[in-house]
Amino acid sequence: MPRKIIIDTDPGQDDAVAILLALASPELEVLALTAVAGNVPLALTQRNACQIVELAGKHIPVHAGCDAPLARKLVTAEHVHGKTGLDGIPLPDPAHPLHGQHAVDFIIQALREHPTGSITLCPLGPLTNIATAFQRAPDIIPKVAEIVLMGGAYFEVGNITPAAEFNIYVDPEAAEIVFRSGVPLVVMPLDVTHKALTSREWVEEMRSLGTPVGQAVASWTDFFERFDTAKYGSAGAPLHDPCVIAYLIEPALFTGRHINVEIETGSELTLGMTVADWWRVTKREPNAMFMGGVDRDGFYRLLTERLGRL
Ligand code: BDR
Ligand code: CA
Repeated sequence: MPRKIIIDTDPGQDDAVAILLALASPELEVLALTAVAGNVPLALTQRNACQIVELAGKHIPVHAGCDAPLARKLVTAEHVHGKTGLDGIPLPDPAHPLHGQHAVDFIIQALREHPTGSITLCPLGPLTNIATAFQRAPDIIPKVAEIVLMGGAYFEVGNITPAAEFNIYVDPEAAEIVFRSGVPLVVMPLDVTHKALTSREWVEEMRSLGTPVGQAVASWTDFFERFDTAKYGSAGAPLHDPCVIAYLIEPALFTGRHINVEIETGSELTLGMTVADWWRVTKREPNAMFMGGVDRDGFYRLLTERLGRL
């Protein structure tokens, strides 16, 4: 039986590749996409989510969620993702409208209606929708099978500030709620995603698929690669969010440690830092499987094979 997932997302080119990977994979049943403000404002992330589903030729509901973090002003990342959040090849306007139900209400209802332990949440952006659902309906917290998320960093430290990774930095209060919820967590930090770099050969392989999906993935990668190669001097761009979906399909591609991770919400200097007890120097209870390594070639093999199915 496929694993039921809800993808909570702020597309984002790497979110888009993650969503396509999930939609191409029979091991997963995507119940819905829930959009959140992050890389760009909500009006764009919700629209991008609809366009991605239609690009894949699937019919999955898209719910719009929170348009601002719990306690702060929204910080966006057009400098990485472009002004639409999904710059690259232009996609047609969505033919199907958003689902009318708010993302938070959908998450609550889905978890209440399904048996305990049958839905996995996959957040690929700031954790605002998930934390809001947990705050409003604490009864759903023990019903979540697992949360597999992209966010944080330990060895790589920060990408949006010297200390913090973007998804956690944008809504640290939400992240704190999720990390303290008691739900089993699997975290894909920058420590992993910065090892999952695209190569020129892979991008050209995508382009030579000759499909709308292949063209889109190649053009998205070309677009956001420029930012990372200029910043880090690396040869390719990190496909952050697809690590979450790849883990659900092939967990053996990743290695990590079950440790305690706390979120910094007080300090201006290190706001949104994931304080990961990687060396187990505290007695704080482990609350997350914090990943550190990835079989890069295996990850790209999986992506090529699955995206070729769409
Ligand atoms: C994360 O931030 C976003 O820009 C990406 O989509 C990814 O989810 C990486 O820090
Ligand atoms: Ca994202």
